[in-house]
Amino acid sequence: MFTTICMLSFCIGSEGQNAANSLKEAYKDYFMIGVAVNQRNISDAQQSDLVKREFSSMTAENDMKPASVHPAEGRWTWERADRIADFCRQNGIKLRGHTLMWHAQMCDWMFYDENHNLVTKEVLFRKMREHIHTVVNRYKDVVYCWDVFNECIADGPRRLNAEGKDQPLRESTFYKICGNDEYIRKAFEYAREADPDALLFYNDYNECDHVKRDRIYEMVKEMKAAGVPIDGIGMQGHYNIYGPSEEDIEAAVSKYAEIVDHIHVTELDIRVNREMGGQLRFSRNEGAEISNEQIEKQEAQYAAIFRVMRRHADVVDCVTFWNLSDRDSWLGSNNYPLLFDKDYNPKNVYRVVKDFNQNTGK
Ligand code: G3I
Repeated sequence: MFTTICMLSFCIGSEGQNAANSLKEAYKDYFMIGVAVNQRNISDAQQSDLVKREFSSMTAENDMKPASVHPAEGRWTWERADRIADFCRQNGIKLRGHTLMWHAQMCDWMFYDENHNLVTKEVLFRKMREHIHTVVNRYKDVVYCWDVFNECIADGPRRLNAEGKDQPLRESTFYKICGNDEYIRKAFEYAREADPDALLFYNDYNECDHVKRDRIYEMVKEMKAAGVPIDGIGMQGHYNIYGPSEEDIEAAVSKYAEIVDHIHVTELDIRVNREMGGQLRFSRNEGAEISNEQIEKQEAQYAAIFRVMRRHADVVDCVTFWNLSDRDSWLGSNNYPLLFDKDYNPKNVYRVVKDFNQNTGK
């Protein structure tokens, strides 16, 4: 305890203000700070310097997804993923693997036979196992954790089935083939077989929404009790300036911490409109300027998120921003969702996150 206080006071000024030179430095006694990258971020000198200076963990935004590395049966395209892995190896940055299985950007060929009929679940499991083993083995030396399955839980209100129970699963092609959640269990088993040392995550968005939060909680709790090797929950964190509230983020982290030892915020960004989540249909806010009121709200929302995560630093290991700058954001630069502007300059919100005040929590 004493040592921890001494370490913290080392980088905190007399008024409790954190005076670190980078995000990773400011948070080194709490958790890692990560960033999702594209190929430009690791090849352009200005951008890659920024990555090296600010971040201790990286995620490939798209380049390790099933469709990116395995576009057809027996055909592997490793170039882009390899470049990201090499960048991490060369610069001593930890790599989060994203994602072994997902209903989107998936290897659709895994689902169908040559006549375009859905395959049996046995065939699907064989293909999943081969994919997971091959990818995990290739990056075993550098990937410290994997998002094993992404976004299996349905959005929206409870939908009761014939037995009066909520059907929590997204009706993806995985679900159609299996009729139950076996595909999720299998994916975690295959990942653990392939690398017993990697931390294995279930990753989803809108994870603070009460209905979805409880669905995720119940699924992971039941699976862990049945021996499925899930180590952590990834809270994607595609939020907006109006929500979720600090109370709802706090409640979600506390609830997940009851059942897992590792929580990562995996895809953090805060857009300036009222949309949230990871769905691929969204407004890019083309042409919109950000107002002072929106800037203040965004700063307050980022401060609140990091306050919650610092309070839970015993279980939160990593907070990852989804993209490097507003220019790179999947949401488009007019949603202004990140800490760096479209010219890679730090915005005031960067200082709000970095220079938090240990005494006031702000
Ligand atoms: O690579 C093709 C390119 O060949 C083509 O010319 C171009 C034309 O649109 O599309 C390119 O693919 C795009 C791909 O990103 C790579 O840039 C897809 O259209 C586009 O849909 C895809 O979007 C990605 C999205 O996942 C869907 O896979 C976003 O960049 C990426 O940020 C986003 O990330 C997801 C997480 O993995 C999971 N959680 C939600 C999050 C946001 O949706």
